[in-house]
Amino acid sequence: MVAGRLLAERQSRHRMKHPLLPADYEDPRLALVEVTAAWETEGTSGAVLVEDGEVTGYLLGAPKPSAVWGANVWVEQAGQAVRDPEMMRDLYAVAAAKWVAGGRTAQYVLVPDEVELVDAWFRLGFGAQHAHAVRPVPVEPIAMPDGLIVRRAERGDIAVLAELDLVLPRHQALAPVFSAGEVPTLEEALADWEESIDDRDYATFVAERNGQVIGCSIGCSIEKSSAHSRLAQPDNAGFLAYAAVLPEARGNGAGRALGDSVLNWAADIGYESVVTDWRVTNLLSSRAWPRLGFVQTFHRMHRMIGY
Ligand SMILES: CC(C)(COP(=O)(O)OP(=O)(O)OC[C@H]1O[C@@H](n2cnc3c(N)ncnc32)[C@H](O)[C@@H]1OP(=O)(O)O)[C@@H](O)C(=O)NCCC(=O)NCCS
Repeated sequence: MVAGRLLAERQSRHRMKHPLLPADYEDPRLALVEVTAAWETEGTSGAVLVEDGEVTGYLLGAPKPSAVWGANVWVEQAGQAVRDPEMMRDLYAVAAAKWVAGGRTAQYVLVPDEVELVDAWFRLGFGAQHAHAVRPVPVEPIAMPDGLIVRRAERGDIAVLAELDLVLPRHQALAPVFSAGEVPTLEEALADWEESIDDRDYATFVAERNGQVIGCSIGCSIEKSSAHSRLAQPDNAGFLAYAAVLPEARGNGAGRALGDSVLNWAADIGYESVVTDWRVTNLLSSRAWPRLGFVQTFHRMHRMIGY
């Protein structure tokens, strides 16, 4: 119960800065459900902080069974809460001894956007890897720029949509992101679109300039995204799930128009906010999405131990 209360307090502090995050978890009983789920995740270990007989902090991490993240341990949304952020360093010292002894040297922590807590993790050798962000839907529909048509994708767009599917993973495989994410083949991307183009759970937009499709964006319900669940899932939110503009067409407003189209779509549906995320080392998305009004709520921080 104490851990539930600590997490509920964390959510209250977090919501003072980011009120679009869900209020439900300010209730210690609901927060406790999340701590319990973190505790029961296979392979979980961690530490608790006890001061004057009272539990004042905890840290829980578990491995993700995916080769992409290396020999890893992850601290997810409900995996940490502490009254005094500085003491997170003491919690980590205890928890990490076991993680590293077990060979879990690739470490990932989802840190709520609290300056002192981010700083504590920074002084544990963790750097920024990924941003989670949210913004309210626009009050009035956002107008599209002259010379650019943004419309719903059709079956006839499948070839260019497949090409655009490769744009993000290819871009992120390069410096300075160096992501290990898999780049699908064009054939795989084509097959995916053949199957999914009519899926009404996803709103796909394409941007056309001079009769050529130069980019796409995809909106859906936030509930489709496992990365933005529970404490990180604003109520009644849409999700900007993907956007890409062909390299030669970038920097001319197509990315903004495609992002804005998802914002307009979300407002039309009746969503109250839109969530997105990006690699902070992606120089393009990390500059474009804040310009569209997205404000960072969580920092995924990363440390690789051994050298
Ligand atoms: C991210 C991406 C979709 C943006 O598309 P784009 O057509 O280049 O973007 P735009 O020209 O519309 O610019 C978007 C905003 O970012 C701003 N921006 C772009 N580069 C910038 C820079 N170097 N510094 C500051 N702001 C910058 C623009 O000024 C614009 O804001 P504004 O409309 O307020 O002026 C595109 O660069 C891309 O496909 N990148 C590779 C794939 C990717 O990263 N996808 C995102 C997935 S998370």
